[in-house]
Amino acid sequence: MNKDTNVVEIRHGVNSTTTFDVERIRADFPILDQSVYGKPLVYFDNGASAQKPRQVIDAMNDIMETNYSNVHRGVHALSQRSTEAYEAVRGKVARFFNAASENEIVFCRGGTEAINVVAYAYGRKFLSAGDEIVISHMEHHSNIVPWQMLRDEIGIVLRVAPIDDDGNFLLDDYEKLLSDKTKLVAMTHVSNALGTIVPIAEVIRLAHDHGARALVDGCQAVQHGAVDMQALDVDFYVFSSHKLYGPTGIGVLYGKEELLNSMPPFMGGGDMITSVSFEKTEFQQAPLRFEAGTPSIVEAIGMGAALDYLDAIGVDNISAHEEGILHYATERLSQVEGLKIIGQASDKAAIISFIMDGVHAHDIGTIIDRAGVAVRVGHHCAQPVMERFGIAATARASFGLYNTPTEVDTLVEALGAVREFFG
Ligand code: ALA
Repeated sequence: MNKDTNVVEIRHGVNSTTTFDVERIRADFPILDQSVYGKPLVYFDNGASAQKPRQVIDAMNDIMETNYSNVHRGVHALSQRSTEAYEAVRGKVARFFNAASENEIVFCRGGTEAINVVAYAYGRKFLSAGDEIVISHMEHHSNIVPWQMLRDEIGIVLRVAPIDDDGNFLLDDYEKLLSDKTKLVAMTHVSNALGTIVPIAEVIRLAHDHGARALVDGCQAVQHGAVDMQALDVDFYVFSSHKLYGPTGIGVLYGKEELLNSMPPFMGGGDMITSVSFEKTEFQQAPLRFEAGTPSIVEAIGMGAALDYLDAIGVDNISAHEEGILHYATERLSQVEGLKIIGQASDKAAIISFIMDGVHAHDIGTIIDRAGVAVRVGHHCAQPVMERFGIAATARASFGLYNTPTEVDTLVEALGAVREFFG
């Protein structure tokens, strides 16, 4: 890694390297070129939401300026073009994540909605009192609360797979929780609070060995590395576009086609039916049966542009770049006096949560903001895992493809100022 130029050489093997030109990538993100409180912006809050490249912004503007109309409803030219562009994104998502068919790609408002669709449509049809769902101790609230609501309604049982003090997922302990009562495993792929990468292929395989379905929350995973639906053999996989350098208001529920078609719709309305009379309604097959009402058309186009953008750079190159940043940041932050990293799992994505002796996380966030550094502070919508570590909050630096080692240095310097302030 050359810190002066921010050009990172990625080694793919003995004879192959790629140059990852961070400065060229940064130039694609207009928002990064600004000062905050007179200091160059350092954006380390990518886990909450990533910034958008010009290519995404242009694609969204372009559809509104040239081809916009409602989809699936009009015979006129604009509606045809809009429908074509919208449906093309479905194909793009299917290819990007190697789904068997684009019918397996349901557009939702985001990852949270996607999990709720499964809880309502799958959970209420296929689960009953006494059935068990296994989640992990590191889940985001969006992969806890929908299942608790289901539990309170129909009497299912929630089981929680443990982690160790470094935040490692304990595969053997997870396996011990599985039985013929387990009907669903709903597990994060990457912990948003700790950065732990869960060995999800094994988790899914073990769930299937016990006759259970597997849902994976990929909201913090898809932006950091390649994910292959068919290789994982996962039943449901969810993610949102806004952490993937696309817009808010759109996300994906991937589901195996026969499974989606066995589920009743989640919401009723236009576009999800084949016929309606006052006596009876016939529903579309998946994916449209889960897309009632006018969808997020412009946002879907934006998500498609984000996938094209990532494809052009290469997800493996992004992964390797972020690994370098994670490694460098872990090393530098470990040297800050009184700083403790929460979550030191052996397999981590580019997320570092930390606390500092005698300083509240909110104070860390507020002080380093004055140095232009944006991090998230708080419980990260993952209160149970905070409780697991006996803390109320952390500061979290979450890195993306445009972050640089120089920015890590700025963070470390800013934390020095925090230390000085609190003594
Ligand atoms: N779930 C998002 C985060 O981790 C908002 O910050």
